[in-house]
Amino acid sequence: MSEPYYITTPIYYVNDKPHIGHCYTTLLADVAARFMRARGRDVFFLTGTDEHAEKVVDAAAQRGLTPIEWADQNAGEFERAFAAQRFTNDDFVRTTQDRHKDKVTGYITRLMEQGDVELGEYAGWWDASQEEYVTESTAREHDYKSPVTGKELEKRTEQNYFFDLPKYAERLREHIEASPGFILPEARKNEVLGRIKAGLQRVPVSRAVKEGDADWGILMPGDEGHRIYVWIDALFNYLSTVDTNERRRYWHAPVHVMAKDILWFHAVIWPCMLMALGEAMPSCIYAHSYWIREGRKMSKSLGNFIDLPTIDAYVDAFGLDAWRWYLVNHGPLAATDSDFGYGRFVEVYNADLANGIGNASSRVSNMIAKYFDGACPKAEATTHAGRDWPALAGAALESATEALDRLDFEALCRAGLSLSNEVDGYIHETEPFKLAKDETKLGDVGTILYNCAEALRIAAVLLSCTLPEKMSELLGRMGQEAPGEDGSFGAQLEELCTWGRLEPGTRITKGDALYPRWDAKNPEPAPETQEAGA
Ligand code: MSP
Repeated sequence: MSEPYYITTPIYYVNDKPHIGHCYTTLLADVAARFMRARGRDVFFLTGTDEHAEKVVDAAAQRGLTPIEWADQNAGEFERAFAAQRFTNDDFVRTTQDRHKDKVTGYITRLMEQGDVELGEYAGWWDASQEEYVTESTAREHDYKSPVTGKELEKRTEQNYFFDLPKYAERLREHIEASPGFILPEARKNEVLGRIKAGLQRVPVSRAVKEGDADWGILMPGDEGHRIYVWIDALFNYLSTVDTNERRRYWHAPVHVMAKDILWFHAVIWPCMLMALGEAMPSCIYAHSYWIREGRKMSKSLGNFIDLPTIDAYVDAFGLDAWRWYLVNHGPLAATDSDFGYGRFVEVYNADLANGIGNASSRVSNMIAKYFDGACPKAEATTHAGRDWPALAGAALESATEALDRLDFEALCRAGLSLSNEVDGYIHETEPFKLAKDETKLGDVGTILYNCAEALRIAAVLLSCTLPEKMSELLGRMGQEAPGEDGSFGAQLEELCTWGRLEPGTRITKGDALYPRWDAKNPEPAPETQEAGA
């Protein structure tokens, strides 16, 4: 059995409608999952919804629904949106499922038995809009308003159960310092270390049962007066979902992807709880930045979300690959936020896809049709016109693999695209269309076109995790195996990227442009009837 690879996204609040932010994180995990399957790894990719927030009870009541009816509706929206974007998650966990709740009760029981979770008193500033306490200094700094939503903070005093976070602080600090790549990008790691050094406090793991809380949330084991705090409940999803006989092998070095808003929970509280439980640590906690729009944060009050209808309009106009490509290559992967803009989208689409790999593949298949009746010619040399093609292909594979190991999705895309750009440069320099006029040069033309076709085949394999639709089509046109729905191939990536698999004589069919050019003067795709808010 090949080595397991486990990648997760946050589980999303069921009160929100899916938007570009949720789709972006899930897309990154999807690209990684597909690439790792192509590499032959035993992949498990998890996403889902976080449902026990107090605000779900209110939102449901306002609509005359029970909390679970409301949660079912919205979890369904996430599942449908993710399926429409062809995300290949292996499971979709909902925290209201018994399989999750029962496990969480077990974990908390263990922590209580060990003395890591105990009853105590807590007074602090509660941010109801985010379901979390903020520290005194953060509250003061933001004028006692939520740093995220700007809503008034509430002073709360509670009897709570607490997790003894300070007990694990030193071990965590050592682990972070000794494990490069544990928190990425690097800038985020320094922020986390700075906060750990400033001192950690106990973390509440429960909230008191209130009247009218509609039986919503998991009860603290042995105490009907408390429910498990939604954040603690939610974090356990990563473990609970694979904590079964068939899936236990996945819990050895999970990769957690999220945005910077929830890094603290993932990089500090979660690893300490895992230490307390004696469970393996994540191998990587990757916190990207935000998508913003026209320089402003996307928010309900501004109504400026790139919401599902807008996403659908883009996908209808440009195709799913184009949508995925833009997000992966121009998203907020690193420490700065990314602005979503139509102009930039078109520029990138035309440059990388229409004029990039799309154009290169049309030129090559057209010339093979014209000069060799559509049968792939034979190459007399693999090093030609100053290019050592097998070495170029090998280097592309290596940089793609290394890129994904550090979750550098842009570099992963560049690795594949650079091969197709090389094909462009090669055609431009060697001018096979001119050589073909002289019959005695047909051998050279064959060499050039074989090298081009073979490089494009390998580029398509490497790009298929980001561009699943059209790269499958391109491979099909070259008589090659396309990846399966989950991104895996019959053979492993290394084998697929070995130079020379394309057999001379293979039929190479022409077809419509893979990515038709887009006229920037066209209006921005927009849903027919704009939904109010998100
Ligand atoms: N339910 C918690 C997570 C619990 S995980 C154990 C939560 N949910 S959320 O619905 O608010 O989702 C937050 C996540 O959505 C972010 O961490 C990020 O992955 C994604 N995004 C939401 N808005 C975003 C942007 N504007 N830009 C990029 N990603 C963002 O927090």
